[in-house]
Amino acid sequence: MTWQSTLRGQFPQITSNPETAYLDSAATSQKPQPVLDAVMTYLTSGNANAARGTYPWANRTTARIEHARDRLRRFLADPAPGESGVHFVSGTTEGLRTVARDWLAPQLHPGDEILVPFADHSANILPWQEAAALTGATVRAIPYDAAHDYATGRVAEMITPRTRMIAATHVHHVYGNDMNVHRLRALAGPDIPICLDAAQSFGHLPISVGALDVDFVVFSGHKAMALPGTGAVWARNRRGPVFQPAGWNGSPNTSGIISLAAAMDWLDEADLERIAQWNQALGVRLTEGLSKMAAYEILGCQRSLTADSAVQQRHGIVAFRHRAIGSNDLGFILAADGLLVRADGHCQGAQGEKTASVRVSVHVYTTREEIDRLLDALAALDR
Ligand code: ALA
Repeated sequence: MTWQSTLRGQFPQITSNPETAYLDSAATSQKPQPVLDAVMTYLTSGNANAARGTYPWANRTTARIEHARDRLRRFLADPAPGESGVHFVSGTTEGLRTVARDWLAPQLHPGDEILVPFADHSANILPWQEAAALTGATVRAIPYDAAHDYATGRVAEMITPRTRMIAATHVHHVYGNDMNVHRLRALAGPDIPICLDAAQSFGHLPISVGALDVDFVVFSGHKAMALPGTGAVWARNRRGPVFQPAGWNGSPNTSGIISLAAAMDWLDEADLERIAQWNQALGVRLTEGLSKMAAYEILGCQRSLTADSAVQQRHGIVAFRHRAIGSNDLGFILAADGLLVRADGHCQGAQGEKTASVRVSVHVYTTREEIDRLLDALAALDR
């Protein structure tokens, strides 16, 4: 057994469907048995509500939720875990909305500015527009360069004394590239908060919040081996007021949060750095194969087609179009062959692609053979 096949063997939905290649992990990941076991054990022997109740089951659940917060701080290499906050949310969309509405909007005044990436996921656009509309602030579009990276030179020129937030994405959900967010702090200077949409990076590659020097990391657990309806906002609490979502917190999603803690254990044990390399190599295999077929147009940076690209790395997400076959049709054709991809506009913002595409996204359970099978199916349509 290889490292990868051992890990793949832990995904029941994958192993029980050997004829099917699941290639839609950017939408949601499959779940490994240890995560499912942790949830089942909790629900069959530890289930109780958290932060209320005086009996042992309730106290143990409360302790497990607190453990999950600390686990996340460690997972993100939090350099000051005593200062940061971890707030569990249903996923990235809710998390970004609460940062924009509950933390940023009360600090905004007319004329203040928010830098927003209008070709990224709509979940990282709409909440900032809403905060601006509520307060008279202005949203300014973060420019992109030809490689679909943030045009950092131009971003630097956009920073003014009125800039109150930079909303960035770590790994793009269509183009798959790391948006080189490590460059942003130097551009922003010491005081401007940066909020990172980590929906496609959390659980796919190591994230160091200290090295990136960001203020918020927001992600969905369900794309990172945990249950649906699970995610978090990590808040550094250094630039501006302490982050606190508005309103009364109801009962927490206990089983989801326990699945998230188990998922982080699983990912660390599996070796996140190695997972990142695996996913990247599969992306390279696919883009190199596709680039030899005249019928296909690959979206995004072309320079990251090679494994040694120092410019941008695709993290296991590759989107493309057939020049004659519509993307939705291509999605159905591939599904009939057991190749499960996403085919639509991928909820991209207004400055994104104007027509649909097929998006292939992998995780550690994806094999080279599955990518080759996909390439064979696409080659049969290369005309
Ligand atoms: N945001 C998820 C995706 O990109 C659903 O597919």
